[in-house]
Amino acid sequence: MYPITRRSPRLLLRELTVDDVNPVHAIYGSPEATAHLSFEPRSRDQVSAIVARSVESAGADPRTEYALAVTRHDSGQLIGFARLALDPHQQQAATIGFALRPDVWGIGYGRETVGLLLALAFEDLGLHRVWAARAPLNEASAKTLLAAGMTEEGRIRGHVFVRGSWRDSITYGVLREEWQAAVAARS
Ligand SMILES: CC(C)(COP(=O)(O)OP(=O)(O)OC[C@H]1O[C@@H](n2cnc3c(N)ncnc32)[C@H](O)[C@@H]1OP(=O)(O)O)[C@@H](O)C(=O)NCCC(=O)NCCS
Repeated sequence: MYPITRRSPRLLLRELTVDDVNPVHAIYGSPEATAHLSFEPRSRDQVSAIVARSVESAGADPRTEYALAVTRHDSGQLIGFARLALDPHQQQAATIGFALRPDVWGIGYGRETVGLLLALAFEDLGLHRVWAARAPLNEASAKTLLAAGMTEEGRIRGHVFVRGSWRDSITYGVLREEWQAAVAARS
């Protein structure tokens, strides 16, 4: 599916463009934003390559990856990078990831971003299941995933090799019918 455009009260999920390199670098190049991620802070050149790959993957047919910009309605500023990737090992399932610029943390954008990714997964793509993995020490992500309606499912031991050692991941999941029930309860 292309292009993706999804709105929440304050945010827009949209396709990345090659003009987004600097604001994405403000996130992926930040030691604070990447402290619990599966990679170390990226250089501007690395981010430029990631954005170029993302733009290219958006045109694939079939499309299996949705690497998207999160922007604010009020300023139009890109404040987040959100990703949904179809899972090649599960039927109608995808994994999600997200990161926001540190100066906008703590005002509900994380929860709103996950909500947008889940709406993309279940409404636009008709998926059955979405899952996510976080670092054991990533409390902000734990709260955000739960706040967005996901359920903690377990621990993958030795999941990610980062900063010189293997670390576990804690996983979260949500099924289509759970998400639909939560949406119905809110309306
Ligand atoms: C995780 C992240 C997206 C959260 O974004 P955010 O906009 O600050 O989150 P929200 O304001 O929507 O808060 C969602 C919940 O998390 C809680 N929370 C946010 N930051 C927290 C922190 N540092 N410690 C504990 N709880 C925190 C909020 O209180 C809220 O919980 P509540 O609904 O029970 O009140 C943001 O911290 C981030 O980009 N981190 C770096 C990248 C990352 O870790 N991504 C996740 C990879 S799995």
